[in-house]
Amino acid sequence: MGLLETKSLYSGYGKLKVLFDINLEAREKEITVIVGPNGAGKTTLLNTIAGVATVHRGKILYDGKNIVGLPTHKIAKMGIAYVPQTGNVFSELTVRENLRIAGYTLEKSEVMERISEVLGMFPVLEKFSERKAGTLSGGERRMLAIAMGLMRRPRVLMLDEITTDLAPILVKRVLEKVVELRDNLGLTIILVEQMAKRALEIGDRAYLLVSGTIRFEGGCRELLEHPELAKLYLGIS
Ligand SMILES: Nc1ncnc2c1ncn2[C@@H]1O[C@H](COP(=O)(O)OP(=O)(O)OP(=O)(O)O)[C@@H](O)[C@H]1O
Ligand SMILES: [Mg+2]
Repeated sequence: MGLLETKSLYSGYGKLKVLFDINLEAREKEITVIVGPNGAGKTTLLNTIAGVATVHRGKILYDGKNIVGLPTHKIAKMGIAYVPQTGNVFSELTVRENLRIAGYTLEKSEVMERISEVLGMFPVLEKFSERKAGTLSGGERRMLAIAMGLMRRPRVLMLDEITTDLAPILVKRVLEKVVELRDNLGLTIILVEQMAKRALEIGDRAYLLVSGTIRFEGGCRELLEHPELAKLYLGIS
C-alpha cells in the first residue's frame, strides 16, 4: 500500500476537467516520478493532492485516510509538503526569512531549531543565510525552495519541476539532494519533472501522464527503456 494514493480520481478547476481516473500510488520511502508533456496535468495532480484544485470524483488516501475536501493548511500540517512550480521563494527576503515563513505554523522555539536543522542539510544555503533569495543562483534558489518544504518535517514531499532551466551540472546536484532526502530522512517523494531521463534514472516508480490520464505505470527503468513511450514522450531514442 502506498503512503499516498489516489483512487479513481477526477479533478480540475471549478467545472474544468483536467484529470481522469487517476490511480496513483506513492510508496513510503520511494521517489515516485511523474512525467508527461506540457499541459498533461502534472501540476494539477499535485495541486489536487495539496487541496488547491477541485476534486470531481474519487479519493485521495494519505496513510489510509481520505483527505479530499480538507483545507490546504490542514493537509500541509498532516505532513504533505508542496514545493510548487513557480513563486516558491520570496526574492526580497533573506534565506533565513524565507525559512521562517515556511515554518509559520510552528512554535517560535521550534522555528529556530528547524532552521538550523534544515540549513545543516543544505551547506550551500548555510553560507548565504543572510542573503536575499533574489541574489541566489538558480540552483541555490531551488535548494531553498526544497529546504522550505522541509521546515515542517513532512513525510511526503511533492516537488514540481525543480530542475527546469538549470544547467546540467546543477540538475545533477539538485536530484542528488532528492535522493539523499529519500535515503537519509526516509521521505516519500513525488517528483514531477520535465528532465524526464534524469529523474527516471534516480526514481523508483514512474507514471506517464498524457492528456489527463495515466498512460504508463511501472518501474522508472522500465519506462526509460520502453520502446515506444520513451521515444514518443520523453525524447529518449
Ligand atoms: N489554475 C488553473 N485554472 C484553470 N485551468 C488550469 C489551471 N492550471 C492549469 N490549468 C489547465 O489545466 C491543464 C493542465 O495543466 P497543468 O499545469 O496541470 O499541466 P502540466 O502537466 O503541469 O504542464 P507543464 O509541463 O507545462 O507544467 C492545462 O490545460 C491548463 O491550461
Ligand atoms: Mg506543470
